[in-house]
This record gives sequence, C-alpha cells and structure tokens, in this order.
Amino acid sequence: MYFDTHVHLNSEQLYENHQAFIENAHNNQVEYMVVVGYDLASSKLAVELANQNPNIYCAIGFGPNDCLNTTQQDINELEQYMSDPNVVAVGEIGLDYYWDEVGKEKQQEIFQLQIDLAKKYDKPIVIHCRDAFEDTYQMLERNGHRGILHCYSGSVEMAKRFISLGYMISLAGPVTFKNAKVPKDVAEQIDLNSLLIETDCPYLTPHPFRGKLNEPANVVYIAQEIAKLKNMEIENVARMTTFNAKKIFGIK
Ligand code: NI
Repeated sequence: MYFDTHVHLNSEQLYENHQAFIENAHNNQVEYMVVVGYDLASSKLAVELANQNPNIYCAIGFGPNDCLNTTQQDINELEQYMSDPNVVAVGEIGLDYYWDEVGKEKQQEIFQLQIDLAKKYDKPIVIHCRDAFEDTYQMLERNGHRGILHCYSGSVEMAKRFISLGYMISLAGPVTFKNAKVPKDVAEQIDLNSLLIETDCPYLTPHPFRGKLNEPANVVYIAQEIAKLKNMEIENVARMTTFNAKKIFGIK
C-alpha cells in the first residue's frame, strides 16, 4: 500500500478527470494521497476533493511563486478551513529563488505568516524549497516546527540538517531520472525513517513515462527506485513511507 504525499488533483490538467486518476491509483495500491494547494482557489478545491473522497486528505496554503499579492486577509480566509479534519497540513509554502517573480522579502513574510498559522493549529507544514536551502533552513531553525521538504532537491548534508530539526524528506520523480545523481544519493544515504514518496503530479513524471502527464499511480516508480538504491524489497519502502506519512500528517 502506497501513500502519495503530494498531488495536485486540483490542477487544471488533472481536475477534470480526477475520478479516473483516483481509480487508477487504487488499482495500483496507491491508497492514500494529500492534495496540495498553492493559492486560495486551489486550496479550496483541495479541501473539496478531500471531503468527497475517502483516504484523500489535503494541505492548504500560498506557495512562494503564487504569493505576489497575498495579504493577511487572504491568510485569514485560508484559516477558515484549518479546523476541517481533512486538512492535515499547511502547504505548499516556502521559498523559491529560482523564479524571481516574487521578491525574497515577500516570500519570507508570507512563509512566516503561514508557519505561524500551522503552529496555531498544530499541523505540519509542506515546504516548497528551490535554490533557497540556507534561508529555508534558517527560518525553520528559528521556528522549531515540523513538516516535510517536498520534492527535495538538495544535498545529503542539507537533508541531514533538516532532519535534525525534525523534518522529513520527500522524494519525487527526479530520483528516477538517469542522470540525477544528487536525489539518488539522498535516497541511498538517508534513513528510510525520514523518507516519504510523492509524485507532485501533474509535474515531474518519473522515468519511464517522462513527457507524459503524471498521476498518483506513478508513485510506485519512486518507491521502486528507492528500493533499488537501498537494495531492499519494495514492500518495505511502501510500508515504511506509508507509516511515516500517516505519522507526520496525524492520520490514524
Ligand atoms: Ni507541488
């Protein structure tokens, strides 16, 4: 049984056929998933999808590339959904210095407001971090909360630092890419106790389906690659990553 910790069934590309994707996931033993928001509309849709489907949960938040005009009032509106039992995290939130549409200060301000929100409701955070590892680390260290580095693309050493703060590392499609050395190193060297798996669909389709639309059923290929790199049975990877996901999201 698999747990895809990061899907965007709320995205334009997947929403229309979301029932078919959920069915295909179940046919491939992908029983659980978390639908992740990145702005108000996608967060509301994530809540809706979670409330309509068993074993589907959601995270709500404003992503670093989608917060240019986000205000405290928007965060207040988001807060109205925080008591919903299917909202298991605040996310995706974080810092992304690869794109420069939103300034660093604005990203940090909105990230902080949402860390505060997560703390208030005692929910973990799902972090999007790209080309901003040191600043992200500093903010997490200052805040002392818990959560997930989603689609982790940093080094082994950086992963260990996040883990020492109480965070988990989630691996996505890039771990299956033939020339992706760093994610493979992370899969190999980081203990399974701290690892999660995700598709981040519709993006980052794993090998051998690169170029096609990604969907939750493909999370099996992430588990398969981790099992290969760790030289263990895929069933162990499936069991442990599902256990880890339920633990961090507080799912019984
Ligand atoms: Ni995402």
